[in-house]
Amino acid sequence: MKTNRLARRVRIQGSMLFGAVLAVVVAGCGAPRPTGEADAREAFVDSVLQGMALEDKVGEMTQLTLDMLLVGETYASVEPHTLDTAEMRRILVDLRVGSILNCGGHGVEEDVWRGFIREIQRLATEEKPTGIPVLYGIDAVHGATYTTDAVLTPQQLGLAAAWDTALVRELAGHTALEVRASGIPWNFSPVLDLGRDPRWPRFWETFGEDPRAVADNGEAMVRGYQEGPVPFAATLKHFFGYGSTVSGKDRTQSLLPERVLLSHHLPPFERAIAAGAASVMVNSGELNGIPVHSDPWVLQDILRVRCGFEGVVVTDWEDVKYLVTRHRVAADYKEAIRMAVEAGIDMAMVPTDTEFPGLLLELVREGQISESRIDESVRRILRMKYDLGLFEDPLGWEAAEKLHNREAAAAAALKAAEGSLTLLKNGKDSTATVLPLAPGTRVWVSGPTADGVTWLNGGWTGTWQGADTAYVSTSAPTAWEALSAKFPGAVHAPIGFGATAADIDAAAGACRRARPDVAVLFLGEQTYTEKPGDIEDLSLEPAQQELIRAVAATGVPVVAVFLAGRPRTFDAVEPLLDAVVMAYLPGDAGGEAIAGLLAGEFNPRGRLPFTWPRHPSSHTPYDHKYTDRIHTDFSEKAHRPQYPYGFGLGYTATRIVGLRTDRPSYAPEDTVRVEVDLETLGGAADEVLMLFSSDSVASITPPVARLEAWRRVALPAGGRETVRFDVPVQQLGFVGRDLAWTLEPGRVGLRCGNQSVAIDIEMP
Ligand code: BGC
Repeated sequence: MKTNRLARRVRIQGSMLFGAVLAVVVAGCGAPRPTGEADAREAFVDSVLQGMALEDKVGEMTQLTLDMLLVGETYASVEPHTLDTAEMRRILVDLRVGSILNCGGHGVEEDVWRGFIREIQRLATEEKPTGIPVLYGIDAVHGATYTTDAVLTPQQLGLAAAWDTALVRELAGHTALEVRASGIPWNFSPVLDLGRDPRWPRFWETFGEDPRAVADNGEAMVRGYQEGPVPFAATLKHFFGYGSTVSGKDRTQSLLPERVLLSHHLPPFERAIAAGAASVMVNSGELNGIPVHSDPWVLQDILRVRCGFEGVVVTDWEDVKYLVTRHRVAADYKEAIRMAVEAGIDMAMVPTDTEFPGLLLELVREGQISESRIDESVRRILRMKYDLGLFEDPLGWEAAEKLHNREAAAAAALKAAEGSLTLLKNGKDSTATVLPLAPGTRVWVSGPTADGVTWLNGGWTGTWQGADTAYVSTSAPTAWEALSAKFPGAVHAPIGFGATAADIDAAAGACRRARPDVAVLFLGEQTYTEKPGDIEDLSLEPAQQELIRAVAATGVPVVAVFLAGRPRTFDAVEPLLDAVVMAYLPGDAGGEAIAGLLAGEFNPRGRLPFTWPRHPSSHTPYDHKYTDRIHTDFSEKAHRPQYPYGFGLGYTATRIVGLRTDRPSYAPEDTVRVEVDLETLGGAADEVLMLFSSDSVASITPPVARLEAWRRVALPAGGRETVRFDVPVQQLGFVGRDLAWTLEPGRVGLRCGNQSVAIDIEMP
């Protein structure tokens, strides 16, 4: 590829500017920028903007899917994918479209990606009048999901269960390199929505129900993506309040009071923005009756003013058009475009119509949108392209390719899969544990998720829904394959989802005849994301409950392993199980990790990042209100989840033996020093210490508990450790009646495990 004309202009402008480009490349996308560099970037962006016609500007604000550039009907591209030269010229040169996303229906090999990117950037930089390179974005949400045979990590919910932000950061760094090695610099990840309602089909894409844990993991992921060594951009999605819909279904309305938005839904985004996140994607739903894509309160007052976000705001898929066709707040598409741009979007993921830039152009020509408003967005997009080094090298894969260490990435993904696995039950009573399985145990395996790599990965794997086995790894072992490798005589009775009574009888009969020492049932869910994952009932599929009953009736001890994106309720059959493991969606290394856990090769260390409900119709997260506890008999026992937030067992138990603070009372500017003593009750052990507060009296009803800090601790055999948490007293406040952060005097309880202590906050 020839050097881009704009890059040549940069060099002509002098060595300082060129140096600045290099400095950005070295520092990564989200790194804080010294004043000199920022000035150089602004000078560059100004000079590019001055040379742009209005047509160029509206083109920059348009994002189309790769499908539009391929031979064949949209969504039915010719196989193998082939670029359609005439369409490419129309879109990239005539319409000057500035951004392309995703993959034309399924992932492809790295060298195919490079061929696409090379041709796209060649047209943009050599044939488009401005020569501005294209910003390519993709959903690489658990590794390079659309690159054939990439390293696939656990999905976010599993990462959250590992309680290991250093590992999240490391994995994001590997993903950045692998994605950038295919020529793509922009990732639509992480999801910072809260997973508070397990009915929501994107629950597994979240870091769970607690805002602080989501913020901790989200910040780590953004840093991992953006801190270099190659420039790469994260997207915080979906801003905001998306995951808490009234119906539990995707892209339906959320009714969330401003106080709850500020106290729960905003903090993860605030933290990731402070960490330098380059872009934000808008919530596809509607919030309190207003579609978020048309809401200046969300996109300006909160995002720009309150959070100080300066990066690019991209819409979600087709959401400008949906202002007309779904939300019904605009009479026609042109009106919808005006609303969305006025509300504050910078780039529209159109993604399949080519009318957007023309209609936007008309709106500006008619004076309905000012050119200065357009310039604001184009500036942000140009800055992002500059930060990503695209003007200097629109392909940008050389350094990434050299630096990507596949073995290290795969080792980190395996470590994360192992770390995520959460042992929820081990023995019908504490004296009769069944796990780990001793060498030589005769294992019998069944259940609908035993046999596919798809069940390990879930959605966004090779394809959007992740269900097409043609695009998942051919080398990763399924759960059955990995387990049978550890237990050579293992016997397998395959069974699918929706099994009939006859299938279940046959499986139970096979178990009886095999006379194994233990039956391992791989249960859970089919793959899904977004709308196709909506459900009417949170209960575990009836056929799987029947399978548990039938196999338990054989008298063989039963271990259930869930490969699932959300907790499905199974209270009626839970007592029949001898052990329960939640594996979430652990990625390609999941089979190996599960087999290792069952064989006792490591100590289970995952802890639930959500509350597992006992019943499908009554779910309250851990930070519920005191009124949520009132039972029909008026005692306080109504919150009775199947497994509580933060729960998880190890093969070696630990015990918290002490909890104290450095003083009994504190002033608002103080920091509470909390010390927790942890000891193992035997061999080496892993624990996650979680410190919860509970305000005893407050002007807004206090939650029963709120996570204030957490720490993963590894103890050697016989070990004991004192862990210190420093909690600023200000942190113990809450969003008050006036929506401001409020600290009130009074007593606050601090709890870790079964130990607690109370402190007093005193006002001067
Ligand atoms: C999803 C986003 C995703 C986008 C692009 C949308 O349907 O809501 O999370 O980034 O598609 O694939």
